[in-house]
Amino acid sequence: MRTLKRFRPRPFALFLFLSLSLSPCLASAQTQSAGAPPFKDELVKQENIYRDKVEGYAVGYVTDRTLADYASALPADFDRSLARLGPEDRWLDIGAGMGQAILDYYSPGYDLSHPETAKPNTKKARAVAMSIEDRRTAFWNQAATHLEPNKIQYLYEKRLRDYSAQALGQFQVITDVIGGFSYTMDLSVFMEKVLGLLAPGGSFYTVLQDVRAEAGTNKPHYEGDTFLTEIRNTAGTDVGVCRWLKSIGCVEVTCEYKPDWKPPLEVYRIHKVCDDIAVPRLETVHFAAGTPPERGYRLATPPVTTNLTATSAANTK
Ligand SMILES: C[S@@+](CC[C@H](N)C(=O)[O-])C[C@H]1O[C@@H](n2cnc3c(N)ncnc32)[C@H](O)[C@@H]1O
Repeated sequence: MRTLKRFRPRPFALFLFLSLSLSPCLASAQTQSAGAPPFKDELVKQENIYRDKVEGYAVGYVTDRTLADYASALPADFDRSLARLGPEDRWLDIGAGMGQAILDYYSPGYDLSHPETAKPNTKKARAVAMSIEDRRTAFWNQAATHLEPNKIQYLYEKRLRDYSAQALGQFQVITDVIGGFSYTMDLSVFMEKVLGLLAPGGSFYTVLQDVRAEAGTNKPHYEGDTFLTEIRNTAGTDVGVCRWLKSIGCVEVTCEYKPDWKPPLEVYRIHKVCDDIAVPRLETVHFAAGTPPERGYRLATPPVTTNLTATSAANTK
């Protein structure tokens, strides 16, 4: 059995919810006041999970996955794409946690395991780790001082959506392993942002747990429960994340279902082929804090797509 070390069985989530309801520090957040932003209480809980303020979630909230963990979960193409990058290229890891995967890329062990493409660190890509909370270790700081200046960067205290495209620049490879793609409340806004940062010809590699797979024949992992992320059309049918990704303009998408993982994974390669990105808008109809949170979306009606070229032009004004 292969796992991504999540794992919050749903009954535990219920128990935790009940104990949270009794927790004095969060008690005030349980009451949704009139006019409050949607899902305010859940977002407060989610923020407290990031900040390690919710007892019991530390086990499910994994922040130290290695590059080998990334390679075994993500599409096989990820490992090759990363190995091909050169010194002018850039890799962004969204939701990097401790940034262990990036450190591994610059380690001697990486070169030993990639003898055909091994190169000195000076000839490797530059990498940016992004996390909401600062999870850098002493090891990260030490590794950073041994690399040439600006080879690695660790950005924190903000979410992906809070950075401008100008501030971050473009990337040839973007990864997200149970980071923002699994945790964000606004999935379509998140995707627009990612695709805006991707250089044409570059790829975004990511993964979701426990979703309706492309073939549509799988059932939710936890009996009697919903999938962890659902996207419903106007008829109320869960169309799955893969189909939504494939409806985005200017990208080629491959979706691969991995049923032998617990919970099962669907892993995605989203390859940008031109700049005229158009992401079909999703409305958030359900968000329950967790590791990762449960999310339900509805395709906007009438269908709305945000054209990234137009958005970027507007943002620079
Ligand atoms: C469960 S940890 C995963 C860390 C790492 N990828 C790993 O596998 O060990 C989730 C990470 O996603 C980050 N995160 C969640 N939502 C994010 C967002 N919208 N933008 C940037 N980072 C986000 C969290 O701060 C954290 O670093």
